[in-house]
Amino acid sequence: MCGIVGYLGKKQAAGALLEGLYRLEYRGYDSAGVAVMDENVIRIVRRKGRVKELECARHLVGNIGIGHTRWATHGSPSEKNAHPHRFGRVVLVHNGIIENAHALKEECLTRGEEFSSETDSEVIAHLIERYLTGDPLLAIKKACERLQGSYALAVLIEGKHAIYLARKKSPLLVGKGEALLVASDLPALGNISHAYALEDGQFALLKGDEIAFYDGELRPVSPKEIAFDREEGEKETLCFEHFMQKEMAEIPAVLARSEVDFATDSRFSDFYRVLCQTEYIQIVACGTAFHAGLCAKEAIERLARISCEVTVASEYRYRDPIVKENTLCIAVSQSGETADTIAAALLSKEKGAHLAALTNVAYSSLTRAADSVLCTNAGREVAVAATKSFNAQLFVLYSVARALAFSRGREAPPMQCFSALAYRALEVAEEVRSWTPFFAAAKSAYFIGRGADYVVALEGSLKLKEISYLPSEGYAAGELKHGTLALLEEGTPVVAIATNEDLAEKTMNAVHEARSRGAQIFLVTTLPGLAAREEHSVLLPPIDEVYSPLISVIPLQKLAYYTALARGNDPDKPRNLAKSVTVE
Ligand code: F6R
Repeated sequence: MCGIVGYLGKKQAAGALLEGLYRLEYRGYDSAGVAVMDENVIRIVRRKGRVKELECARHLVGNIGIGHTRWATHGSPSEKNAHPHRFGRVVLVHNGIIENAHALKEECLTRGEEFSSETDSEVIAHLIERYLTGDPLLAIKKACERLQGSYALAVLIEGKHAIYLARKKSPLLVGKGEALLVASDLPALGNISHAYALEDGQFALLKGDEIAFYDGELRPVSPKEIAFDREEGEKETLCFEHFMQKEMAEIPAVLARSEVDFATDSRFSDFYRVLCQTEYIQIVACGTAFHAGLCAKEAIERLARISCEVTVASEYRYRDPIVKENTLCIAVSQSGETADTIAAALLSKEKGAHLAALTNVAYSSLTRAADSVLCTNAGREVAVAATKSFNAQLFVLYSVARALAFSRGREAPPMQCFSALAYRALEVAEEVRSWTPFFAAAKSAYFIGRGADYVVALEGSLKLKEISYLPSEGYAAGELKHGTLALLEEGTPVVAIATNEDLAEKTMNAVHEARSRGAQIFLVTTLPGLAAREEHSVLLPPIDEVYSPLISVIPLQKLAYYTALARGNDPDKPRNLAKSVTVE
């Protein structure tokens, strides 16, 4: 949700800023810009569109600069709304949302100040300039005290050879190597030896080759160093055309790593003590992570007989949720930076829940807020559409479901070698390539299933609409006849997921109802008898139905990918979306 970068070193800043922006592009890609200072003069280049449109800024001279890639919240995607924004001596980039921007802007307008963009961010530059009478950090602090909402800020001041940073609720990291670097996410820091995270309410000053961190009262504080894998982030798409393709191909490896982590992980054993005391479970998450939570509910309630409530984080945070004693709240988030998930998780913790973060980013904001951390170890996920992280979340959540069952003296079906099953699923799922002409030409599509298969239907539908832009719905198979059947026309594609032997024939009843109304049926199943009956089917390897979403989602991920390609879309960067949703 917007990415920011900064560079202060001995080389030309523009190249390093562009490299950082390319790596952050997944956070937003409707416009981009950089500001580079040379001899106390700050030059800004901004462009509508992707970072490649900004290549013309590479020639900018100067060894200090800041940059931004935008996902529009206030104001259309355009050059004038692109960051950096300048007012007087102040040039800044901002990630987050300023909720009281309108009132602050009115205040500036009455002072006769002019605005050149429709963004909420520009007003911050006005405030800093207003308070800029001495120490720039003090001016930034005073400006921040006026702001409501969230921000990660990198600021240049004409005449000062330094980068000033401030953070509230939006992520901001600083790296030290041959140069000092700033970024919203670790991979964008490039070649560094140390990385530090600004905490909420902190400020930082990058000057010469030193970084100084300050608390909210501008008292010096020790920075929080982040451990990181130097190899990570260097792996590019290699032989794959798209990150999404690469990330799906990594699912078996991710599951193999998870099998090792959760067989031997001592943190998980510590967590077992928490599980023994848990009487209620609440899961909060958004999007695909929410679907992982729904799958977990199926497994937890079935295996452990513990009540599990799963709520979309943006709803949970504005309800008055009931948190009973001995509640475990599991906040699921690939990025660990989703604003709604963090807010919901904190609310649950405040009401007395033990908060466990299930995330793919060990240094994320969610991790820092949690009482226990469960890491998915899926590796960096670049494509906006989540794939391998979903499978990794499922693995951990199923491990939790099993541990809960054991803590109650209950049995749970053994975990098979899921990595091998996923490998086979990837192979057989290639069949969906032949389905794509039906989807590419369709006006809408439907996914149906029962139980865990219904949750997979929801995820398949989300993935399809997200990257192919084809309107689509995931539906409980039994509900189709209560309204949605009216939408089916001759040739409307309906994908049925049937992995549960007891429910499969019930799902097939809905299939027959749909087919009689002209629907074109596509089946994803683990049951050979069913597959043999359908013209278009993917037969997955046998897997215990409790865990089946781990592999039944794979053909649907591929279906979305190939349909996006057939419709001429970029599957890695779908329109209007961004990978990490750090705003409400
Ligand atoms: C869908 C997708 C989104 C995310 C959602 C939550 O493919 O990627 O729906 O799942 O924005 O993101 P995280 O998991 O980072 O909290």
